[in-house]
Amino acid sequence: MSTQLIRPARSLQGSLTVPGDKSISHRYAMLAGLAEGTSRLSNFSTGADPHSSLACMEALGARVLHNPDGTIEITGVSGSFRQPAALLDCGNSGSTMRMLTGLIASHPHTFTLTGDPSLTLRPMERIRNPLIQMGAKLYLTLREGDQQGHAPITIHGTPLRAIDFTTPIPSAQVKTAVLFAGLQAEGTTSLSESILTRDHTEHALLAFGATLTRTYARVPDQPARLSIPGGQRLHAIDATVPGDISSAAFFLCAALLFPDSNLVLDSLGMNPTRAALLDVIAALGGKIKVLAVEERHGELIGTIQMNSAPANRAPAAATTPFLIDGPLTAQLIDELPVLAAIAPFTANGLILRDAQELRVKESDRIALVAKNLRAMGANFTENPDGLEIPGNQTLHGASIDSGSDHRIAMAFAIAALRATGDSEIHGAEAAAISFPEFFTSLDALAQR
Ligand code: S3P
Repeated sequence: MSTQLIRPARSLQGSLTVPGDKSISHRYAMLAGLAEGTSRLSNFSTGADPHSSLACMEALGARVLHNPDGTIEITGVSGSFRQPAALLDCGNSGSTMRMLTGLIASHPHTFTLTGDPSLTLRPMERIRNPLIQMGAKLYLTLREGDQQGHAPITIHGTPLRAIDFTTPIPSAQVKTAVLFAGLQAEGTTSLSESILTRDHTEHALLAFGATLTRTYARVPDQPARLSIPGGQRLHAIDATVPGDISSAAFFLCAALLFPDSNLVLDSLGMNPTRAALLDVIAALGGKIKVLAVEERHGELIGTIQMNSAPANRAPAAATTPFLIDGPLTAQLIDELPVLAAIAPFTANGLILRDAQELRVKESDRIALVAKNLRAMGANFTENPDGLEIPGNQTLHGASIDSGSDHRIAMAFAIAALRATGDSEIHGAEAAAISFPEFFTSLDALAQR
């Protein structure tokens, strides 16, 4: 386990290109692996998680080439995965495990998907339920005392039939597992979401040549109903993965902590289903200017500049804590740890509700945020579904436990910038799951 020392800072200045989006990298890796032809992907995520997806694609018969210029070429299996010689190792990646299960369930082989200790504790019934309705032969592992099944997952591949499914919990991974299975099933699969989640799968499927229809409700912000005909073939693409806004979130939150910060982020993914953070940053006093924006394969990529309000001109309007609940909680799911970690330094604090999903991520993120806020001397209340964190607090440096969770390690490295005194982040190496360059970038941008 590695420990990073974080000294307090006085400002955040500079420009940054964050690594390629983790969610999009997974989807491009998997669809390129299934497609016919060679896809060329630039700015593929440097995080360990999407590389677990790439390794699984290789084990399933795709050819993966890592070029010296950083691009990745994937030659797909033209619709027919091969029998892997060993277990499919998904590492720490829930996205790999859940989405891949949907992608391979109809292929006529036996697969076992496994992962690290954190992944084998995470809920998997959520994908088993729709996939067995489709006819999948899929078995979870039940350990002593388990009410619910977990990984390792064993699949005996068999033809699937279409279903009409409504996601009971907001989860883009579950939506993706069903759409990937539907793409290869018999008949047309329909899917409705109770709450709109990130729509990268929809864009990626269209980019790889699939037919997918979205019927929008007449009420704004309501999720679309999706229909995907089965038996489809995909074709390779050339694509650039946009920068990961969930990685950029750490730096946007850091900039918010200091008056007169100035941060420019380029090639940043700004998909509207992922960009709620920008509104939150603005509501908390950050000024965001969009300097450029374009669309590639349905994804928005832009350059933004963020300045925080000078100390003497902080926003005065709001006096109540900033509330995150309902659909906003789902849209900010990966940014919640860092928002909670910096909440004590905001003017009015934060109330987070409806976030019970955070308890079943790479760690129990509510418990670990609480543990580390407590270590820094913060005053707050922990609830089963969230946290209430008053603002305007002074925290001291502390010994931080990442719990081997990448987002906890990075969230508290940011909070530590505003502490009085040094902090130590234990288990800092977890950052490499999504953002291996995080500590180097932080060092370059934090002014001391
Ligand atoms: C992801 C969806 C979210 C998110 C995860 C990536 C995706 O998980 O937390 O980091 O790429 O679809 P859930 O689908 O479990 O909410």
